[in-house]
Amino acid sequence: MNILMPTAGTPYRFSDLFFAKLGLFRSKKVVKKFSGILKGYFNVENIAFVNSGTTANFIIYKILKDLRKRDEQVEIILPAYTAPSLLLPIDAEGLKPVLVDIDPATFNLDVTKVKEKLNSKTLAVMPIHMFGLPCEVDSLLALTKDTDVFVIEDGASALGSTVEGKHIGTRAPFGFYSLNRGKNVSTLAGGIITWNNKDLADSFEKYIGELTSLPAHSQFIMFIKFIALSLAVRPFTYTLLNPIVAKFKYTTLHTHFDSFQYTKMQAALGINLWKRIEYLDQKRVENGLRLLEIFKEKNGIRIPLIPNGSRVAFNQFPVIVEDLEKRSLIIERLKQTGLETTTLYDHPLHNIFPEFNKAGDDPYPNATYLAEHLLLIPPHAQINQKILATVQKVINELA
Ligand SMILES: Cc1ncc(COP(=O)(O)O)c(C=O)c1O
Repeated sequence: MNILMPTAGTPYRFSDLFFAKLGLFRSKKVVKKFSGILKGYFNVENIAFVNSGTTANFIIYKILKDLRKRDEQVEIILPAYTAPSLLLPIDAEGLKPVLVDIDPATFNLDVTKVKEKLNSKTLAVMPIHMFGLPCEVDSLLALTKDTDVFVIEDGASALGSTVEGKHIGTRAPFGFYSLNRGKNVSTLAGGIITWNNKDLADSFEKYIGELTSLPAHSQFIMFIKFIALSLAVRPFTYTLLNPIVAKFKYTTLHTHFDSFQYTKMQAALGINLWKRIEYLDQKRVENGLRLLEIFKEKNGIRIPLIPNGSRVAFNQFPVIVEDLEKRSLIIERLKQTGLETTTLYDHPLHNIFPEFNKAGDDPYPNATYLAEHLLLIPPHAQINQKILATVQKVINELA
């Protein structure tokens, strides 16, 4: 049997599961304690937890609707290549997505094209730090200064990335992260919200307080899922479980999201995971740097531009492979050596949802190209020097 290294995930240790289980019997203070730890980690004053990044984003929209100057402000500007699930909270709050192409150099939102989309209906611009790569935020903050437009940073896949020592997601007035499986750190699921105006704390508390809390039996099932996830991200069990695990990967389109409160058990798990956060972050940074070296200046392969002053905790290491046959060959060869890769969303938002693409011509060609040519190499903490040396060998042979 060819043992495969999973594309994502940090295996939980026995102690993580033990403390998580104890969390079930602790008071709500455990969530407060986790908040305190993360306030220190992100260096922020305001933080809250919910069940997912999607719900975090949803709550932020509720707050922005309360804060907006005019009811006509309904437009949310976001890149045409990103997680399709981001459209769900926009839709749920009766808002309207407005797409902008990506920058082929950074693989992120093309910030120079945002200005042309701003108008009296714009409620927010959402720089999304895809794959862990910091999206430029300062120019968007300058562009929207003295306007009624808000900036929300989506750091769902970029927890741990910093620019000039400051965590991404904390530059703009609002930011959020995901603790879902497959993200940089995971408590099975979860969403973190950060904001910079302390006067909004009561509003966040009110909206989060209105969410239902998971009943005891669902929390028990959640604990079983912790164990399952822990097994699913270990090479041997991942290989055995592959036919089942494949079904839970983010390849299918989500049409619905549930919102509920973060659980004490997840907070207790998070507290234990944060004891080794420096190691987990550092591995993603180091593996990413090594992959940059491996893929740079290779024929027909493009690597992303790394913003000045940034430390990138890659969620996945992205490259564009121009020749699709070569991409298939790389995927196949890496799989034979025991490393599984992904291509993530095969289509940009405007091709998944035809209402964005009425004119027929491709309005966001860079996003389409990225979606069709992307290859993602996992950089998580289980990826060791030996695996990276094999990647280097395969890439040197094929590119
Ligand atoms: C960029 C981005 N934003 C938001 C989300 C939503 O996060 P969650 O899965 O925790 O709801 C995801 C999830 O894949 C994502 O990749």
